[in-house]
Amino acid sequence: MSVEHPEKSGEHAERPDEHPEKSDEHPEKSGEHPENPVATPFDQDAWWRDAVVYQVYPRSFADANGDGQGDLPGVLSRLDHLAELGVDAIWLNPFYPSPLADGGYDVADHRDVDPRYGTLADFDALVAGAAARDIKVIVDIVPNHCSAEHPWFRQALAAGPGSPERERFVFRDEPNNWQSIFGGPAWTRVPDGQWYLHLFDSGQPDWNWRHPDVVAMFERVLRFWLDRGVAGFRIDVAAMLFKQDGLPDVTPGSQGGPLSPGNSPVPYEHQPELLELYRSWRKILDAYPGDRGTVAEIWFGHADQARPYLTGDGLAQLFNFRLMPTPWSAGEFRAVIDESHRLARETGGSIPWVLGNHDVPRMVTRFGVDQDLVRAPTPEVLLGRLDVDVALGTRRARAAALLLLALPGGAYIYQGDELGLPEHLAIPDEARQDPMFERTLRTFIGRDGCRVPLPWSGTAPPYGFGGRETWLPQPEDWAALTVAAQRADPGSTLNLYRAALAVRRGHPALGDGDLTWLDAPPDVLAFAREPGFVLMVNFGAEPVPLPPGQDVLLASGPLDAGLLPPDTGVWLS
Ligand code: GLC
Repeated sequence: MSVEHPEKSGEHAERPDEHPEKSDEHPEKSGEHPENPVATPFDQDAWWRDAVVYQVYPRSFADANGDGQGDLPGVLSRLDHLAELGVDAIWLNPFYPSPLADGGYDVADHRDVDPRYGTLADFDALVAGAAARDIKVIVDIVPNHCSAEHPWFRQALAAGPGSPERERFVFRDEPNNWQSIFGGPAWTRVPDGQWYLHLFDSGQPDWNWRHPDVVAMFERVLRFWLDRGVAGFRIDVAAMLFKQDGLPDVTPGSQGGPLSPGNSPVPYEHQPELLELYRSWRKILDAYPGDRGTVAEIWFGHADQARPYLTGDGLAQLFNFRLMPTPWSAGEFRAVIDESHRLARETGGSIPWVLGNHDVPRMVTRFGVDQDLVRAPTPEVLLGRLDVDVALGTRRARAAALLLLALPGGAYIYQGDELGLPEHLAIPDEARQDPMFERTLRTFIGRDGCRVPLPWSGTAPPYGFGGRETWLPQPEDWAALTVAAQRADPGSTLNLYRAALAVRRGHPALGDGDLTWLDAPPDVLAFAREPGFVLMVNFGAEPVPLPPGQDVLLASGPLDAGLLPPDTGVWLS
């Protein structure tokens, strides 16, 4: 993508703020935040410690205005689906004004709603509608970079080399060797010869977090959404905001970052200033009533990288992504669970479990392929050319859902996983939207396959999503996977999730707490939670006996006369 050089217009002098016309205060609320709030350790009973949060990808959830893209009124219209599912909160992926160079993670205005998704009034209506159903709303905050269309970046381009406007970003006369996480160089040259840093797409210039304007702007953004009643924030790319002084080259073999977690440090991750920044954000959140939370997107390769963030005066909560790249293997699942659970216990922090999100192939597909390909994806896998046993993947994904919801702590459910959707691998190249496809020179098909609009009803696309042509094409064979079809089927994946969430709400052993591993054959995971709850998942190829004298609360598939079949999970009491 090339960057236009905007006309010089003296914009900066007249428009010191990035969006000066906007008031920071929600009209109905003001003066809620004291000037110098004091950090308090987070409440160990805070709602977010063991919440089940449903991830809504707004562009693909439900389309109320019929343009083939989801929108906020669409989410509002389908809140009953989420209430019946029984989730505690929803996290909305970005819905801010954006040219969509990276699906909205290129934000042009942090304090508004993109017209394609609705208005701020629609957002307020959604928060109110969710609250009426006892569902909290978390929004995405994207602090590492903005859109190349953000007024401050346009001002920086216009103002030229050496200007104060350029200091809000990372402009240099010479690039270093950093690579974009999406592929290709992390630097793009502008017409006057300087280069700007973008760890992601060229349409996503990185902020300079050592600039006070940037710090102050994001404080305003946090307050803007807190004033509108959000229960917290998901922090995008949370480990990368600060770059090491001098921008040293990455040493060979240490390239890391989200979507390809590295174990060795890189000069744009985990800089010490982050902890101070997040402590200041915690103070802002703590000045609001209720337990406002944050959940940080940090792909940690090792527990020691995550530990510093988990303190109560800082972020306190990071996603636990470590089950997503884990193949279907009892031993490998147990190793991840042990390490993560120990980390949460040692720090007092919270690391909610995740089996799917908008960046990773759907679990039905991950679990339905030769698991060696999950351990070491080949070039063919990256192009989506692989055999998938959807029935097998679905059985395993259902068992994994019972594991997810029985583990201590919180859990995230990615939209469509409650329907058992597989990855859509057959999207035509010309319909692909993810910038990773082109930036990797088409060696990786990208993340569109897990972002396909949800099927609600009917037997053919658009399956009640809205509009005629959806922004990404839907598969032709999803008729049995629609919400309507699954509601009517007592054995459906949707009804399994509903039942599991209902049990979880009522059972005193579930949610936050501890687990005790039980003796089990090598291919079986079995743990107890007190009082009186047992989970078993059979990862192996042979049925195994269920423990005697226990009642079955829920099973992910048919049980066989006292035996737990392969690829099946069960909750016992
Ligand atoms: C995060 C988001 C991903 C996005 C990237 C850049 O990893 O989850 O979707 O592309 O950040 O903002």
